Amino acid sequence: MSVQVVNKINDLINKIKDIKAEGKTIALVPTMGCLHDGHKSLMLKAKSLADIVIISVFVNPIQFCPGEDYDKYPRTLDNDMLVAQSAGVSIIFAPSVNEMYPGLQKFSDLTMVVPPYELTDIMCGKSRIGHFDGVETVVSKLFNIVQPDYACFGMKDIQQLFLIKKMVKDLNFPVEIISCPLIREESGLALSSRNKYLSAEAKIKAITISQALFAVRDSFNAGIKDAKKLLDTALAVLDKDIELEYLEFVDKETFKTIENIESNTICAIAARINNVRLIDNVLLEV
Ligand code: PAJ
Repeated sequence: MSVQVVNKINDLINKIKDIKAEGKTIALVPTMGCLHDGHKSLMLKAKSLADIVIISVFVNPIQFCPGEDYDKYPRTLDNDMLVAQSAGVSIIFAPSVNEMYPGLQKFSDLTMVVPPYELTDIMCGKSRIGHFDGVETVVSKLFNIVQPDYACFGMKDIQQLFLIKKMVKDLNFPVEIISCPLIREESGLALSSRNKYLSAEAKIKAITISQALFAVRDSFNAGIKDAKKLLDTALAVLDKDIELEYLEFVDKETFKTIENIESNTICAIAARINNVRLIDNVLLEV
């Protein structure tokens, strides 16, 4: 069966009624498109869990801050269809902005789902003000429209994953969130739709982002537990043209910042190369 593209919410709801009437389970993979092997790994996981896999391809305007790359974000639906097809996806939900947010003039007109401030005043949320409000709002809408049994999210966006799990728990969404491993290129670079923005030269420099994290993990495994010393290890590896936005150590269970690492800790980074913002993370396991 070839993958179907559905643009209208009501058409999707009707299809979902039929799927549910047949007693089939649904796994949802929300994306912004420009699909790569990282996304595909989520779709394959979804396929292993449920009868029907639905993905969304929607560049969500309300999660971009002013001055960010909303306008130039790559939109590659034809290729996305091929990737989805190869992963056994049944339906691509690709609504227009007006379909998702009819008549929206300004974000403040919308009812939003807002995560707790203390969990967004760190890492990506600190520089991307309101970003996670936009993410949680669109993901809530997708959950309400699709009513999936499972929804798969990648550990690449580790703060997003944490906040969505919390949202589902706090608001009792009847969906099981599946955490999927971060997929890298052979070079170590985390796969990302934004890698498309990188020149060949910038890409070589960008590889030092993952190398810095691996160096942190090696130092940690060699017994260094002090966050400041580990930060110095990372800085020594990062290419000099990379602008570090943050390198943070947070507890895997609580997302609280850690100075002296004792429990399982996520070391997360955001950095810019030629103004392309990339994120990555590794787990430091005790
Ligand atoms: P997007 O960046 O397209 O990512 C969609 C999903 O793919 C996310 O769950 C993300 O963590 C996962 N993903 C991306 N790169 C990955 C990689 N290298 N390895 C594993 N998983 C990877 O995240 C979003 O879109 C949006 O914020 C969204 C949740 C769709 C809401 O608009």
